[in-house]
Amino acid sequence: MTVVTWSILSRMRLPQLFASFISIALIAIGMAFYNWQLTLALFWVVPLELAIVLLSKRSMRKGNESNYWNKRAVSEQIQEGLDTIQEIKSYNQENDYLDKLDEKINTYEKVLTRNELVLGILVNGSQSILKLGLASAIIIGANLLSQGSIDLFTYLIFMVIGSRIYTPIQEVLNNLAALIYLDIRINRMNEMEMLPIQQRTTEFHPNNYDIEFNHVDFSYEVGKQILKDVSFTAKQGEITALVGSSGSGKSTAAKLAAHFWDIQSGKITLGGLDIKQIDPETLLKNFSIVFQDVVLFNASIMDNIRIGKRDASDEEVVRVAKLARCDEFVRKMPQGYQTVIGENGETLSGGERQRISIARALLKNAPIVLLDEATASLDVENETQIQLGISELIRNKTVLIIAHRMRTVVNADKIIVLDKGSVAESGSPELLRKPNGIFTQMLERQVISVN
Ligand SMILES: Nc1ncnc2c1ncn2[C@@H]1O[C@H](COP(=O)(O)OP(=O)(O)OP(=O)(O)O)[C@@H](O)[C@H]1O
Ligand SMILES: [Mg+2]
Repeated sequence: MTVVTWSILSRMRLPQLFASFISIALIAIGMAFYNWQLTLALFWVVPLELAIVLLSKRSMRKGNESNYWNKRAVSEQIQEGLDTIQEIKSYNQENDYLDKLDEKINTYEKVLTRNELVLGILVNGSQSILKLGLASAIIIGANLLSQGSIDLFTYLIFMVIGSRIYTPIQEVLNNLAALIYLDIRINRMNEMEMLPIQQRTTEFHPNNYDIEFNHVDFSYEVGKQILKDVSFTAKQGEITALVGSSGSGKSTAAKLAAHFWDIQSGKITLGGLDIKQIDPETLLKNFSIVFQDVVLFNASIMDNIRIGKRDASDEEVVRVAKLARCDEFVRKMPQGYQTVIGENGETLSGGERQRISIARALLKNAPIVLLDEATASLDVENETQIQLGISELIRNKTVLIIAHRMRTVVNADKIIVLDKGSVAESGSPELLRKPNGIFTQMLERQVISVN
């Protein structure tokens, strides 16, 4: 057993269990010296009880296991409902959702009732069996007394002890049941504890911030490969654009560069060093990220932007907010920069949320910039203005940019075209404008749709 297991057991039941066990054993040995027949009459029930508890261990464990998983299923369903409440409401899925939740609660209720019933029968049954011990001691004692084998004093002493001895025995049995109940949680903790801890460096001072993907394979779940043999380099001082149809793996590739997940094979390096060897916090200090799905906190706008750099002064925050075109809409809010924006910025429009995210990235000013659809929900005027801010953000940095709008990517130094998770084309925009190329087709399609 591991340290965690022992510490939990000692906090929960183990001391009582040992204390009860030792006191019963000592009392039984002492009594046997005094009169072995009466001791046997009192204690014959104990091995029987132990056998019952141990024999029912398997079914108890199974019951506890299904209890545990059903309980988790209910809380996960509730959590999912809270996270997706807007979608549920807008697609009239409330009844469906509630039906599913009801089903899970009902299953949990059934399993719980069955387990409680089994446990109840076991605990009460064991108490009744224990009482049989006292009954047999009374009968055998009376018999021995009538034969003159024992005196009245011995008989009374055994009766008094007999009326008390079963409390610690019952305690031992109850604690054994509780330990079985704990088993499944302990196993899960052990599973987590057994996960290997990777040794990673916090000392990271590279000569450059080039990101290199080398034959990278990646899948979120077994059997569904998302990236296949992806190789490319995003050089410092250059803008590298990832383009491709929806679902081709652009966001995944960008997130892998920041080591959000482990890849299955291949290698991703930053400044020549495998990112696996860099401590995650140290690695992320080097990234300014603007994601497709912006996450905001229920705090003031000032604090939401300041996440980019915790010790930034108010003036610094306002400076980047102006560059990201936040200043205009923030000043119109009731308390300006001190306005609290609600959970995940629910009081803001998509474009406003994105601008706050860009301001954060500007404030962080890290050597690598990941822009995932950074200007997707902005109108043309704001987009042009923000491009100026972004051009400050990306000066002399490693920039990985993902955009659907082709005019955002034609200024890139290098374009990587992803198609179903593989690199279909790569090179400068000029190089990729070849007849029948995927990039050329994407350009043409967008020109047509704009006209
Ligand atoms: N967290 C995740 N868990 C499981 N699958 C995921 C996850 N995120 C993305 N996927 C799957 O990986 C594939 C690639 O997704 P990704 O977000 O990288 O595409 P994308 O090129 O950025 O698309 P878009 O242009 O629509 O943003 C998709 O099939 C998607 O369903
Ligand atoms: Mg994406």
